[in-house]
Amino acid sequence: MEQVQEQQVFSMPRIGDPAPEFKAVTTQGPINFPADYKGSWVILFSHPADFTPVCTSEFMTFATMEDKFAQANTKLVGLSVDGLYSHIAWLRTIKEKIEYKGMKDVEVNFPLIEDISMEVAKKYGMIQPSEATTKAVRAVFFIDPKGVIRAIIYYPLSLGRNFDELYRVTIALQAADEFDIATPADWRPGDDVIISPAGSCGTAKDRMEGKDSKVDDCKDWFFCTRKLDKDKVLNAILKK
Ligand code: BEZ
Repeated sequence: MEQVQEQQVFSMPRIGDPAPEFKAVTTQGPINFPADYKGSWVILFSHPADFTPVCTSEFMTFATMEDKFAQANTKLVGLSVDGLYSHIAWLRTIKEKIEYKGMKDVEVNFPLIEDISMEVAKKYGMIQPSEATTKAVRAVFFIDPKGVIRAIIYYPLSLGRNFDELYRVTIALQAADEFDIATPADWRPGDDVIISPAGSCGTAKDRMEGKDSKVDDCKDWFFCTRKLDKDKVLNAILKK
């Protein structure tokens, strides 16, 4: 998808696309993306600006959850169109001065990309000119171990993200791959999962008659579920 505004072309990667490649400088050294992350899930996310309150609350929350994401083989990478020294000063201020919702002395150990040229932000559709031309919106890209974009969420400047939802998405994407299932509304590990509609009438009939061992319950031919134990999900996804 391309959005053309004021003679500039902004690309928008889509679900299923390979993550656009880039090399960048970060607070943790240079990165070559997504090659450096092969074999891991990655959440690449943008924020509008350093030294702003909503972004500060988000970084403190994400940094506090970094180990939880790491357990799910998921690395975090932040980006804004600020420079490296701004990033370093902001993260130091967060650690030294900011206490928020019981979080304090918070160290951000994941890389934060400097993108003064907006090259990466433009590649990923993080600059949405009707919202802001000089800042990235709050974009979140979930990228799988093969470097494929699997989910994208965008939030406007004024709205801080829900990090429980980002964790839920991380686990649900991995559960879908691991167990070849889909997850219904508001799914959490331990809830029933969806078995895709049957490919043939015969199988659909078997399902409705309770003869398909992969299915525990059918509301109708197109809506069949299976129990999936919480521990089975978590044991498959979380590193011990
Ligand atoms: C914030 O993070 O507080 C913020 C950033 C840009 C616009 C509005 C709020």
